[in-house]
Amino acid sequence: MSDGYTVAIVGAGLVGDRLVAELRRRDFPLEELRILARSARSAVLAGEKFEVGVAEPEAFEGVDIAFFAGTEGEKGAAVQLADEAISRGAVVIDNGSDFRLDPKVPLVVPEVNVASLEGHEGLIANANCSTTQMVVTLAPLAREFGLKKVVVSTYQAVSGAGRSGVEALENGREDAFPRPIVGNAIPQIGGFGDDGYTTEETKMREETRKILSLPDLPVFATAVRIPVHTGHAESVYVETEHEAGLTEVLEALGAAPGVWLADDASEFPTPLEVAGEEGTYVGRIRVDGRVIQYWCVADNLLKGAATNAVQIAESLIGVRTLA
Ligand SMILES: NC(=O)c1ccc[n+]([C@@H]2O[C@H](COP(=O)([O-])OP(=O)(O)OC[C@H]3O[C@@H](n4cnc5c(N)ncnc54)[C@H](OP(=O)(O)O)[C@@H]3O)[C@@H](O)[C@H]2O)c1
Repeated sequence: MSDGYTVAIVGAGLVGDRLVAELRRRDFPLEELRILARSARSAVLAGEKFEVGVAEPEAFEGVDIAFFAGTEGEKGAAVQLADEAISRGAVVIDNGSDFRLDPKVPLVVPEVNVASLEGHEGLIANANCSTTQMVVTLAPLAREFGLKKVVVSTYQAVSGAGRSGVEALENGREDAFPRPIVGNAIPQIGGFGDDGYTTEETKMREETRKILSLPDLPVFATAVRIPVHTGHAESVYVETEHEAGLTEVLEALGAAPGVWLADDASEFPTPLEVAGEEGTYVGRIRVDGRVIQYWCVADNLLKGAATNAVQIAESLIGVRTLA
């Protein structure tokens, strides 16, 4: 690869838009930037006008890095086209969930497990948005105190469901969520499994285990959609192997890359303040022996998607900026 890379973004939705913004903001060395979607058209992403091309195998000729931010599933962009991109020499970084739990595919949050990129076979998965911000905060606690159990409740923004989610909040679109979102809180994100957990909750359990390399870690999630535009919040309860004091917990979280701590107990981050920021923000930290509780917030479109994906690409090309 040369100084500048030919990069393709598949998907011109909310994550595609933020990928353009992050590549520009982080000054990623670009020779060419192609935007691909289901249909060709002119589109403005992150304030820039692009001629969007059709996502088809030939569109990946000459591409070094392909960020996938299309829809998931059998007819989704990654299932249909990731192999085509890889066979043409691209490294694929996929925002969707199709390959995250494939043992051959690294599932990477660079602050936590960047080493898992080694030996990748062309496809790298970005974690689920609610998982990413949680593992950034759990990793230092795992290192310092050991983890025995995690219980998390989420408060997730409508933009986590893409453009249709935003339209549900702003224009009353009715098909994005299982219940009306305005003035509501909906404890269902994704479909229900036989065990009663939703797909979002199962992703949080399985992806956390994979990223932290703790395959048996008990993780109990309740994922809730709330009428907030952008920024997922989480209330996290952690049981640890070893006793922890508040000072030690503050030190561990304060030293962790990608984590910003509120100054004192009365300070706390909220989605409104954190939207547009790249990090994971923590407050309301409470410690009682082997129990740690806290509140964490991150921009689901940035650290939960685009920023993490660009950080993976930076790690691949040796420009690592994790803060
Ligand atoms: N939103 C979040 O907070 C978030 C966080 C983490 C991960 N993700 C994941 O990121 C992906 C994109 O999410 P989003 O929020 O940006 O969704 P979105 O706003 O609904 O946009 C989806 C985009 O994907 C394109 N697309 C869909 N199927 C395609 C295909 N088969 N080939 C090419 N392009 C295709 C669409 O193209 P057209 O415009 O031509 O229809 C559209 O531009 C999803 O997999 C999502 O699960 C999202």
